[in-house]
Amino acid sequence: MIRISLRRRTLQCAALLACATLAVAAHAQPTGPIKVGLMLPTSGTFADLGKKVASGFKLYVTENGGKLAGRLVQYVELDDESDPSKANENANKLVKRDRVDVLIGTIHSGVAMTMARVARDTNTLMIVPNAGAAEITGSMCAPNVFRTSFSNWQPGYATGLLAARKHKTAVTISWKYAAGDESVRGFREGFEKGGGKVIKDLHLPFPNVEFQPLLTELATIKPEAAYVFVAGAGQVKFVKDYAAAGLKNSIPLYGAFITEGTLEAQGEAASGLQTALHYADGLKIPKNEAFITSYQKTYNAAPDVFAVQGYDAAQLFAAGLQAVKGDTRKKAEMIKAMEDAKLESPRGPLSFSKSRNPIQDMYARVATGNRNVMTDVIVKALADPSPDCKL
Ligand code: PHB
Repeated sequence: MIRISLRRRTLQCAALLACATLAVAAHAQPTGPIKVGLMLPTSGTFADLGKKVASGFKLYVTENGGKLAGRLVQYVELDDESDPSKANENANKLVKRDRVDVLIGTIHSGVAMTMARVARDTNTLMIVPNAGAAEITGSMCAPNVFRTSFSNWQPGYATGLLAARKHKTAVTISWKYAAGDESVRGFREGFEKGGGKVIKDLHLPFPNVEFQPLLTELATIKPEAAYVFVAGAGQVKFVKDYAAAGLKNSIPLYGAFITEGTLEAQGEAASGLQTALHYADGLKIPKNEAFITSYQKTYNAAPDVFAVQGYDAAQLFAAGLQAVKGDTRKKAEMIKAMEDAKLESPRGPLSFSKSRNPIQDMYARVATGNRNVMTDVIVKALADPSPDCKL
């Protein structure tokens, strides 16, 4: 009897010790690698944009010795194919199967909206390094969902102001999905504010590149200017088709992204095109000069706005992590630090509005050789109005 009860005691003690050890472990600060889920396209029309975002993000981490707030960074990467129908499954894989600490993505607005829903429902930290869908920092906004790029309205609006300096009428051409619709809406607002009028909106489905019928229609309408939102590989073909159709000199073409990262492929067809964006090649800002040198050295290529947005996503995540010394369990404190972050971005000063969308300067640029050269600042510290975000 005595022996049995002694044995039971010993077992109880062992169990208690194990429990106590587990309890301590559960409360101990995590010290292993931080898991970063990169959900970006590596195939399809936005593949190059996804690659640039990932390169920018990784550059910041590399510059910091492969660590953020003292913890090693481990990447879990997934090709989202810019396919909204696969977005829910893909985002859930990263959150539930891989248990990432942060979800970084993506390029396509439709895919990003689904990702943001998953992030909101699972309280996973998310940073959008490109997609401009209004809802993400609008009606669907959430404390844990940030964006380091733009709302589609921002560059559209700035380009509208730019075009209105010289023209009174315009026709728009866009891919029929959230980014195209919202970009055109922004353009219209800026263009009308400057005294112009949009007389027709033309569309084609994403990622269709059969532009000819729309260019023929544009030529018959004869507006003073045209605004286009197509992106990635599609914008190379659009600019070439536009020049080949003989429209370049008769109907000046404007677009926010239309020459970004693609000037080499577009060649002479893009020369002189005017755009407005939150970055320009060779901006004379010390942070940008250091960024260009570092990017060039690491990748043997010039960065673009997508690389900047990825770099700043890493900077923003780092600001949150540093505030809690790498202790990712202190989510509320991390989020507060990210909300208040004032980043030195290669684009210039970068802060965030209550909706977690960037407040940033918008630059007028002109395509000169292989560079989108800044001519002037169109709007300083432009914030998205985000009236539907209740935070
Ligand atoms: C978007 O889908 O939000 C999007 C994609 C490519 C761009 C800009 C916006 O260049």
